[in-house]
Amino acid sequence: MSATKKTYRPETRLVHAGTLRSQFGETSEALFLTQGYVYPSAEECEARFSGKKPGYVYSRYSNPTLTMFEQRMAALEGAEAARSTATGMAAVTTALMGQVKAGDHVVAAKALFGSCRWVIEEWLGRFGVTSTLVDGKDLGAWKKAVRKETKALFMETPTNPTLEVYDIAAVAEIAHNAGAKLVVDNVFATPLYQSPLALGADCVVYSATKHIDGQGRVLGGVILGSEKFIMDHVHQIIRQTGPSLSPFNAWVMLKGLETLSVRVQRQTENAAAVSAALDGHKKLSRLIYPGRADHPQADIVKKQMKAGSTLCSFEVTGGKEGAFRFLDALRLIGITNNLGDAKSLVTHPTTTTHQRLTPEQRAELGIGDGLVRFSAGLEHQDDLIEDLLTALDAV
Ligand SMILES: Cc1ncc(COP(=O)(O)O)c(C=O)c1O
Repeated sequence: MSATKKTYRPETRLVHAGTLRSQFGETSEALFLTQGYVYPSAEECEARFSGKKPGYVYSRYSNPTLTMFEQRMAALEGAEAARSTATGMAAVTTALMGQVKAGDHVVAAKALFGSCRWVIEEWLGRFGVTSTLVDGKDLGAWKKAVRKETKALFMETPTNPTLEVYDIAAVAEIAHNAGAKLVVDNVFATPLYQSPLALGADCVVYSATKHIDGQGRVLGGVILGSEKFIMDHVHQIIRQTGPSLSPFNAWVMLKGLETLSVRVQRQTENAAAVSAALDGHKKLSRLIYPGRADHPQADIVKKQMKAGSTLCSFEVTGGKEGAFRFLDALRLIGITNNLGDAKSLVTHPTTTTHQRLTPEQRAELGIGDGLVRFSAGLEHQDDLIEDLLTALDAV
């Protein structure tokens, strides 16, 4: 339909792309809360099952509300195809497991969300797929790690929780020279600030649970890539094993996408304002924000991202004790392990998202016991800054 045409800007696509109207001409996207479909005849049923005729068959792998969400995401990302999943972890696991078999090898950056690291190090290993974890900033380490059995390279950028930024185009080239594919977890950048496919990646994954819903309601995930990538590595896995998104959750995500650009813009302004207000604070030993000129990879941020981030991280003095005193003194901002919400949230990675790692592994990644991740919400920035500064006084 015309609303999906390529010349429309992202904000417009977020509202219109992928909309399928039923015979009733509804304004808001319809929620097709159905497991299956009835056919006008047995012949039609046979034709749809064999794929000779298009049409919906079963909601484990096709549903009009899922199609709308997937097409809107594909239009936003500039991808040929997309598949939705029940969670972000289902998207990461499907995208990786769909590419490998026993004897294959995966290379990933060490700085990963805890569950992604578990899938690569532990879960893939149980099926005979080996892995090498590298310092994502070190292009030489990526190059050294790839070998002839390497099928996939994986990174998230900016990383969780230290907000390191990796060079997607350079790592995609290393992957392609080795005959492998690059998968990028784009959760922290959002589809608005970074387009990994345009930079050379083969696949992008999201936890839609984060900014895409953005209002703390439902979990979901998306996998995007070329038609060939999705058909070769994703489609059958979802169809046969069923890590599928509920139509209800897809509908919530669709409505979330409509407001994504205004939310992410405000959240980024708030994160930038908080970073500026905390800069040089005597109770902090470190402040990381990708939108700042002093970010260690500021040159890569400039090259591949349209703006900073809705998150910043900082190290509170006094280690875990200092961080806990700070967290417990917050009155407005909630302690959680989630991010990308309308409500501002803080996370203590050492005791939550990254608690599985050893202290040495965390130290290697720069995750100190005093590190706190702040996810900016939609509140007035002065209220957020007041809450943070008052809580720092308690440290
Ligand atoms: C970078 C990153 N990738 C993947 C996930 C997993 O997403 P979900 O919780 O939707 O499974 C998360 C957060 O949980 C995350 O922060």
